Amino acid sequence: MTTPAVLVRRELPADAAVVRAVTAAAFTGAPYSAPSVEPDGAPGEATLVGLLRADAAWIPELSLVACVGDEVVGHVVCSRADVGGAPALVLGPLSVHPDHQGRGVGSALVHAVLGAADALGEVLVVLVGDPRYYSRFGFVPGVSLGVEPDDPALASVFQARPLAAYDASVRGRFTGPAAFDELSSRAADASA
Ligand SMILES: CC(C)(COP(=O)(O)OP(=O)(O)OC[C@H]1O[C@@H](n2cnc3c(N)ncnc32)[C@H](O)[C@@H]1OP(=O)(O)O)[C@@H](O)C(=O)NCCC(=O)NCCS
Repeated sequence: MTTPAVLVRRELPADAAVVRAVTAAAFTGAPYSAPSVEPDGAPGEATLVGLLRADAAWIPELSLVACVGDEVVGHVVCSRADVGGAPALVLGPLSVHPDHQGRGVGSALVHAVLGAADALGEVLVVLVGDPRYYSRFGFVPGVSLGVEPDDPALASVFQARPLAAYDASVRGRFTGPAAFDELSSRAADASA
């Protein structure tokens, strides 16, 4: 049987609901999902995508979906962040629907969003994630570039990927979009 083609394109306004659903499905039961702040129990990452879309940090060119035919099966987004006072990007959430994992969809999304960010002249992409997965895309420990997470407890999973326009003066502490803090604040309220 031929493997169906996976095409990556920019997210369209009509994709918002399915992006939330794919994100919820991907992170449900994932080892490191964020706590739910929703009545439907959706993982925090599903909420985060919506919060990011309403945030000034949202970059429409860098919210991409992966499609098999007309079906959206994966999503990735990079948003505006700050490293030591310089503009940088933060990648995530990255989600592939469980029915489509292990077939290269996540890799296609990461390669596409890094290429798009590079083409836009961005300098550095950071993320929190499993280095065993992200090292294949050129991510290295943030500390090796002098880039520090906002939470020191995340140092072992905080990674950075220099793009073509990178120079070593981009270093220092990472500050993420307000949406990240908003999710943490809602999670704290939910558990109080
Ligand atoms: C992580 C995720 C995006 C990968 O997407 P995918 O389409 O399944 O990945 P690909 O098919 O491109 O790559 C599969 C490879 O990644 C590896 N992989 C997947 N998740 C991994 C992880 N957490 N740690 C290490 N390796 C991982 C697989 O073992 C496989 O390795 P191989 O190529 O050597 O066989 C997807 O599994 C997912 O949505 N997971 C739940 C949400 C999540 O964890 N998102 C990332 C948060 S940092």
